[in-house]
Amino acid sequence: MGNELQPVEKKETGNEGIERLIAATAHDMEKVNELILERASSHVEVVPQIAMHLIEAGGKRLRPMLTLASASLFGQGKGNEIKYAAAVEFMHNATLLHDDVVDESDMRRGKPAARKIWGNQASVLVGDFLLGQAFMMLVETQSMKALDTLSKAAATIAEGEVLQLSKTKNLATRDRDYMQIINAKTATLFEAATRVGAMAGQASQKQQDAMAIYGRELGLAFQLVDDVLDYGGINRGAKDSPGLGKNTGDDLREGKMTLPIILALEKASESERGIISDALGRENADAGQFAKVLDIINRYHGLETAIDRALGHAENARNAILELPDSELREILRELTHYTVCRVR
Ligand code: IPE
Ligand code: IPE
Ligand code: MG
Ligand code: MG
Repeated sequence: MGNELQPVEKKETGNEGIERLIAATAHDMEKVNELILERASSHVEVVPQIAMHLIEAGGKRLRPMLTLASASLFGQGKGNEIKYAAAVEFMHNATLLHDDVVDESDMRRGKPAARKIWGNQASVLVGDFLLGQAFMMLVETQSMKALDTLSKAAATIAEGEVLQLSKTKNLATRDRDYMQIINAKTATLFEAATRVGAMAGQASQKQQDAMAIYGRELGLAFQLVDDVLDYGGINRGAKDSPGLGKNTGDDLREGKMTLPIILALEKASESERGIISDALGRENADAGQFAKVLDIINRYHGLETAIDRALGHAENARNAILELPDSELREILRELTHYTVCRVR
């Protein structure tokens, strides 16, 4: 008793990182949001219905804010950063529509996933629509470099998702496979978001590379934490995650081989392996079965180890931008790395 208050304090400290980023990018984010609304429209009625269902639910808008902040950091944006940021968020939303179909998820951003209302087929197609709209915006900027970065990212994200799918319920999945997957499916878009932002700000090649490393490392930390949150997070057990906006326990039910499970399997006894293997991919696994698996994960410190690794990547992100000129925005980005690890949603 009483102990439960501690993580709350930590969370609040972490949140400052994103609050300051929100404030610093608010002015340009208004323009990005306008552009998003404009480009989500279509004469085919169901297209904006589905797109707006997801867009209006909000989301953190972390990636477009990163693009804007990366541009402002170098201060010489010529307006392209607005289109880059909107394109990045469209790409993200497209991957979410697709991902919820692949993962058979029921909830997204605190609402029923689009596929639960309009079905898988329409969700996939509207994801494709958003991807197309993203690339159209990039073409309008006439920046081949941004188009190069983001089109490569789109291909790499899809590869990551397919690689992950191919490892479903595969008990032989290794730590390095997992790192390869999250690098591709998540860190790639964070890296692209910060790189194109730096491009828009006319940063030098070296500075763009530093921002790209920052984005990649932040993205790795972000996904590591996301996968811990799916098991209820640290110190919060298997309870619901009210702020998360998606169901916990999905990864186990889907048979997704995330780091906490991989680490547990590395050390588990034969009988423990049996329990994990039984629960993995079992759609109607009950709370008791989930709790048993979580026990095994905790026995081998699976969640803590994943968080420790996230902390390491967050530190790498901070270090990547240390050589950039000192500015308030650089400090906001460095502080954001703490939020990434402490976040609860
Ligand atoms: C969800 O990303 C997908 C992952 C990479 C884990 P976010 O957590 O950034 O989703 P929104 O945009 O805030 O909903
Ligand atoms: C998010 O992956 C989708 C991409 C990064 C492409 P996950 O499947 O791990 O994330 P959630 O839990 O559905 O948001
Ligand atoms: Mg998913
Ligand atoms: Mg997924």
